[in-house]
Amino acid sequence: MTRSIIPSLVLLITLVTAKAQNPLYIPDTLNGPIYNLTVAYSSKVFFPPNVTDTYGMNGDILAPVLLMNKGDSITLNVINDLNISTTMHWHGFHISAANDGGPHQVIDPGTTWSPSFKVRNDAATYWFHPHLHENTELQVTKGLAGMIIIRDSIESTYDLPRTYGVDDIPLIVQSKSFDAFYQLASFNSYDSTILINGTIDPYVEVPSQVIRLRLLATASSRSFLFGLEGDLPFYQIATDGGLLDQPVSMTRLRLSTGERAEILIDLSALQGQSIFLKSFASELEDGIIGGPVAGVSDTLPGYYSNPLNGNDYNLLRLDVVAPTTNPVTSIPSSFAPLNPWNEADVDVSRDMVFTLDTNTLFASPVEGPFLINNAPFDMDSINVTCFLDEVEIWRLINQTELAHPFHIHDIQFYVLDVNGNPPAPGQHGQKDVVLVMPGDTVRFITQFERFAHPTDPYMFHCHILHHEDEGMMGHFLVIDTNAVSVPEIMGTQQISVSPNPSSDIISIGSGRFDSVQTLEVEVYNILGQKVQSYLHTPDNLQVSFDVSKLQAGLYTVVVRSINKQYSGKFLKI
Ligand code: C2O
Ligand code: CU
Ligand code: CU
Repeated sequence: MTRSIIPSLVLLITLVTAKAQNPLYIPDTLNGPIYNLTVAYSSKVFFPPNVTDTYGMNGDILAPVLLMNKGDSITLNVINDLNISTTMHWHGFHISAANDGGPHQVIDPGTTWSPSFKVRNDAATYWFHPHLHENTELQVTKGLAGMIIIRDSIESTYDLPRTYGVDDIPLIVQSKSFDAFYQLASFNSYDSTILINGTIDPYVEVPSQVIRLRLLATASSRSFLFGLEGDLPFYQIATDGGLLDQPVSMTRLRLSTGERAEILIDLSALQGQSIFLKSFASELEDGIIGGPVAGVSDTLPGYYSNPLNGNDYNLLRLDVVAPTTNPVTSIPSSFAPLNPWNEADVDVSRDMVFTLDTNTLFASPVEGPFLINNAPFDMDSINVTCFLDEVEIWRLINQTELAHPFHIHDIQFYVLDVNGNPPAPGQHGQKDVVLVMPGDTVRFITQFERFAHPTDPYMFHCHILHHEDEGMMGHFLVIDTNAVSVPEIMGTQQISVSPNPSSDIISIGSGRFDSVQTLEVEVYNILGQKVQSYLHTPDNLQVSFDVSKLQAGLYTVVVRSINKQYSGKFLKI
């Protein structure tokens, strides 16, 4: 655990001059069906003449923006040219666990990982980033992250800005710490430099018409409260996983790390003028990292020496120039209705309780480490087993002093309520990250559709990167109960197990064991760990045994005779 922060090495680069002076970098785009991404060491000059070491994908920092269409079958070749392992996770995507790029799909140095899948998500703004166990923060800090834009046939029917880099602008919003040697560092409290698409103090020329900004908040821990200078209203049109049912007019939009939103701004009256996109961080509620009060009883070391914390600051200067030839000039009045699941259809409700890990020697109420349901993350144990096609409600209960952005892989969800009240305007669309305030209970509803696997898990975790790295994360499996009899151990003969599912006594291989030798019976969980074993003496040709003490889940029973091995699967309920 790297909790040792060395403040003397930290150089605080303040933004108080507020003079935007660098043209906003607009990332190149890549189109499918094959995307090649080379992850490599690079460098960039942020503070001339000093050279900062970075990690980048096909460039010096960040990655090209990946353009995809819903329904496309695509292949991504992720080439790891680093000399450390990495992974690449498609954040927000509904894909199989094997393609998800979580901590289990390690890409060794010098190798290429090539997931192939169909794009199934609705049109919206997604992203990708490494997810290596205990190393996510380091690799994202050094520069690895990128945006994905998915389009679909519904979104394309609306009169919306969609000329990339002209009236449809990607904004990857980050804050970073630079040390005394101008190197990127994981000093959480000292992330005093804002980078938008890797650009410090950026400006961008935008046409005098309705423009669309795709906001992706990806600081390690900081949340942003987006707004326009002079409180000019704007319209939120999309959440993490799709369009809203109608544009929502607002002057502030809060995004925590991992969240996305798309907004429209009508600049038609502002030609020749400039207006700042800002973070009104002085207005963030207590408990949010980046606001005036991070922890309630304590605060992060160095927190108040970071000029971004609790103060309003500029993010991007919009210089309004002449309109384009076919401008979008009005805000659409509505989009397609949303389709949240119905609470009446819920099969399972679960609680996820966030607490401070008080078993750790140096636990601090603001620095953590934090836990979900008291279980530190363990690569080898499954925390939650879900069943294919079931509708679930998850209750996120935050018993800590800090706000935590909770994220879950594979699915999009709808927030049902926050402490029993409806979610804030603009938060009622499809989401994969939700910020849970201290003391709050947030309920969301979702369904685990299409992808199931008996051993490949998905992740859920806090998206504050060092909380995730320190164990505020868990695994879940989605299991298809119709597939439980398929043998997966090579070289074994399949035997029947009955009844299946079972809660107490099962019998296996009825009539099969006609010889009179002793049999070794072993029961393995889905991770391949032996959970029960004993010797069966041939008093009966049928092997039966008690599984009532096993936790619910999928198991493999293996029966070994002197020269044969048999196996079968059963579900313990
Ligand atoms: Cu953005 Cu588990 O990740
Ligand atoms: Cu994710
Ligand atoms: Cu957290």
